[in-house]
Amino acid sequence: MSVRRLADESVQPASFAFSDANAAWAEKRIALYPAGRQQSAVIPLLMRAQDQDGWVTRATIEKVAEMLGMAYIRVLEVATFYTQFQLQPVGTRAHVQVCGTTPCMLRGAGELIEVCKSKIHHDPHHLNDDGTLSWEEVECAGACVNAPMVTIYHDTYEDLTANRLEEIIDAFHAGNGASIKPGTQIDRLNAAAEGGQSTLLETPTATREKFIPPTPPEAPAPAAAAAPAAAVPAAAKTAEPDNAARPKDVSEENAPALKGTPSEAKVSEAKAEGERKAAGAASKADGTPNAEMRPGATGAESDAGKIDGGKAPGKATVEAAENGAAATGVKKSAKKVVAAPAEGLSPSADGGNPQPIFTAPEGPADDLKLITGVGPVLERKLNAVGITKWSQVAAMTPEEITKLESSLNFKGRVARDNWLQQAEVLARGGIEEYRKVFGKDPR
Ligand code: FES
Repeated sequence: MSVRRLADESVQPASFAFSDANAAWAEKRIALYPAGRQQSAVIPLLMRAQDQDGWVTRATIEKVAEMLGMAYIRVLEVATFYTQFQLQPVGTRAHVQVCGTTPCMLRGAGELIEVCKSKIHHDPHHLNDDGTLSWEEVECAGACVNAPMVTIYHDTYEDLTANRLEEIIDAFHAGNGASIKPGTQIDRLNAAAEGGQSTLLETPTATREKFIPPTPPEAPAPAAAAAPAAAVPAAAKTAEPDNAARPKDVSEENAPALKGTPSEAKVSEAKAEGERKAAGAASKADGTPNAEMRPGATGAESDAGKIDGGKAPGKATVEAAENGAAATGVKKSAKKVVAAPAEGLSPSADGGNPQPIFTAPEGPADDLKLITGVGPVLERKLNAVGITKWSQVAAMTPEEITKLESSLNFKGRVARDNWLQQAEVLARGGIEEYRKVFGKDPR
């Protein structure tokens, strides 16, 4: 694993902003997620920012955090975890990622790395002389069948030789990267066998017959099973073993349930099963519990039994509980299952829609986004809890700050980003006053 840290401060730009087109794209992207789940857009936004500027800067991370209402550290964690994010400047025309994992290494990745060293820079993550190219070694990019390969931005170049990579790097260096066809660089179709198809070469000689699945054996119908012994087919009777001819098993005398011919036992068992099913169907049909088959049971008890045995709530249990039947017969464990809210439905501080906890003053809302640390998402949340004015923020008491931070789940942010002073200055004199006091534009 490589150590991934932000680039040195000397190369970090002071600010980051999406272009108009990318900002519109980002807004749409954020809106795809349900309320309270906008943070899920963190990876797409970081990737878009990287596509725009070539790498992910500290300012980019802060900007994305503000847009999504996230703590800076959370976005930093994402950016430093995934090696797809470049944390330092890369070549303006190409950043070559050479796969160095076993299949590529066995097929010549070492030579590709030597090409990068000689044509770009001796060390990875360093720019060439004119700043147009850079390179690094990466783990498997998922094109092992066509090893060795490199990735340049979003495209892969496969089946490479040292000479072919030199040509590709030269083309990108000259600004002609688009002239190189991505994918395999030899005569093969995608990832098909090199040199052409090598299997399934025969011409099919017969059309395939339609497959008809075998008919499963018919299950005995309850009505037939419940029929008297006389109705058993003659064939079954003739197949019955002759008890008199069997050697006597003394255990049979102590097993009354097994007395009689095997077919009689079967018929009687099937009859009982048929009666149980018929009674069950009748009780389902009219909605009454089957007290006869399970003496003393109510419908709710019946399903509570299911829960006890199966450790899972039955649909009928939920229905019974909803109808109030739970109060009479449902066992404790079943009540627990019914009472627990479904996962994901319980409101949480940052999960559901924030509820109003302050009284929003009359009049149009101020642009809370002018306060550092407040992005569009957080502004919407603040409005939702009843904060719409700079003056409200400026006048917040410590108790109100605690209430707000625990409601929106961003403990410490108000003090850390100095909201109160910023809001007081904005409320007093707007952007002009802000510039005078802080010596810069808001945000
Ligand atoms: S090993 Fe190189 S792409 Fe998989």
